[in-house]
Amino acid sequence: MLKLAKQPRLGLYVHWPFCRAKCPYCDFNSHVSKEIDNAAWQSAYLKELDWILDQYQAQTPLDLTGRPKLQSIFFGGGTPSLMPPDLIGAICDRAEHLFDFSDTIEITAEANPTSVETDKLAGFWAAGINRLSLGIQSLNKDHLSFLGREHSADEALHALQIAKRLFPKVSADMIYGMPDQTITSWMSDLHRLQSEGLAHLSAYQLTIEPGTVFYTRARNGETMRVNADHMADFYSATEQAMADAGLNGYEISNYAKAGSECQHNLLYWRAEDWLAIGPGAHARFNLQSGGRWQGATRRSPGGWLDQVGSQNHGFETIEIETLQSHGEEILMMGLRLAEGVSLSRLSKSSIRLDEAWVDRFISEDWLTQKGGSLIATLEGRQRLDYILGQILDTDQIIDTGQIIDTGQNLVRQQQAPKIQTSD
Ligand SMILES: C[S@@+](CC[C@H](N)C(=O)[O-])C[C@H]1O[C@@H](n2cnc3c(N)ncnc32)[C@H](O)[C@@H]1O
Ligand code: SF4
Repeated sequence: MLKLAKQPRLGLYVHWPFCRAKCPYCDFNSHVSKEIDNAAWQSAYLKELDWILDQYQAQTPLDLTGRPKLQSIFFGGGTPSLMPPDLIGAICDRAEHLFDFSDTIEITAEANPTSVETDKLAGFWAAGINRLSLGIQSLNKDHLSFLGREHSADEALHALQIAKRLFPKVSADMIYGMPDQTITSWMSDLHRLQSEGLAHLSAYQLTIEPGTVFYTRARNGETMRVNADHMADFYSATEQAMADAGLNGYEISNYAKAGSECQHNLLYWRAEDWLAIGPGAHARFNLQSGGRWQGATRRSPGGWLDQVGSQNHGFETIEIETLQSHGEEILMMGLRLAEGVSLSRLSKSSIRLDEAWVDRFISEDWLTQKGGSLIATLEGRQRLDYILGQILDTDQIIDTGQIIDTGQNLVRQQQAPKIQTSD
């Protein structure tokens, strides 16, 4: 049986699925709804939190005689800044009752910088939020309009001022690569934000996702983003500007001063454990059996609410992953990080790397090995899908999965290879 040397760190994700309007580029599980029964949502979140914690405590390798330690809570969306602060407070209070909060727990909320939401920020702070991730996206009027945003650049900067006064940790989300955007204009946005002294910034390349308005427009022949070569220039310029400002690119799209990295996202990229509640949320944690629990809730807000009402949880798929697919998760997520992925951790999973391809990419300077870790270089991180496609030795894939119909949910049970590991 797999013996974990160290219990992975644990986080909690809370998905709020509502937005003021649907942005034309966004494929997140977000919906516009006129009426929201906040009392029903609160009751459902709290019920599902109890349920998922029961699953975790029953199946993790830890001797959980006490309350499990929580490193992070992340309210994502959708637009969590539309949540009533009382609802956020109720979830935080329940979590504090059920878990042992780490001394350094990060409780993040994503917020949109419209004026109405900015007025609520003090309430979020009082409710327990200690890190705000502000969706600024752009400081250019035309780009904000192209992205269909509901706020102006001035509103975004005003929200940033208020957030900095209230929260010890503030991050901004930005998007680049709009079709008529120049690197000069993008740099001007970044420099303006840097002048605010942010310790964390996420800079995402605009992606055109199936099912979005932008996707339809692109299929109809419109140019919706800069071409791949130009995007690579934007990426290099972003890395340079962030480095000049003292922010390290610790992940493909994320930059932080040392010690200000987003703890919650690190749990994902280091393939640790997280519980999740709310529609369209995903949870993953390691099991006593040596496999990994992976579940996803129903995406439809109404469907999720109904199911939690009748079954105390809204999960519609639950899989027990093999070590093979967990190994793939460790590799795929780890190579996104500047710290890379530990080779000894990889070797304890059952995936095998194709050494010839690894050597080839090392000689191309797309991969490197340092301190026992495999790391994608700046060049490598720009072609990660290709690299992963080559270095994963698919001849070694072990999948002894079987489907178990639980009567209410389909559970895919995969038999994990029994191996003994220690650190
Ligand atoms: C859950 S979303 C949004 C949170 C919040 N509702 C907002 O709009 O600011 C998280 C982030 O993903 C990024 N994002 C969403 N769709 C994107 C896309 N198609 N291309 C690039 N970035 C995207 C945006 O920067 C956004 O802030
Ligand atoms: S980008 Fe944010 S505000 Fe816009 S639809 Fe997506 S989640 Fe909602």
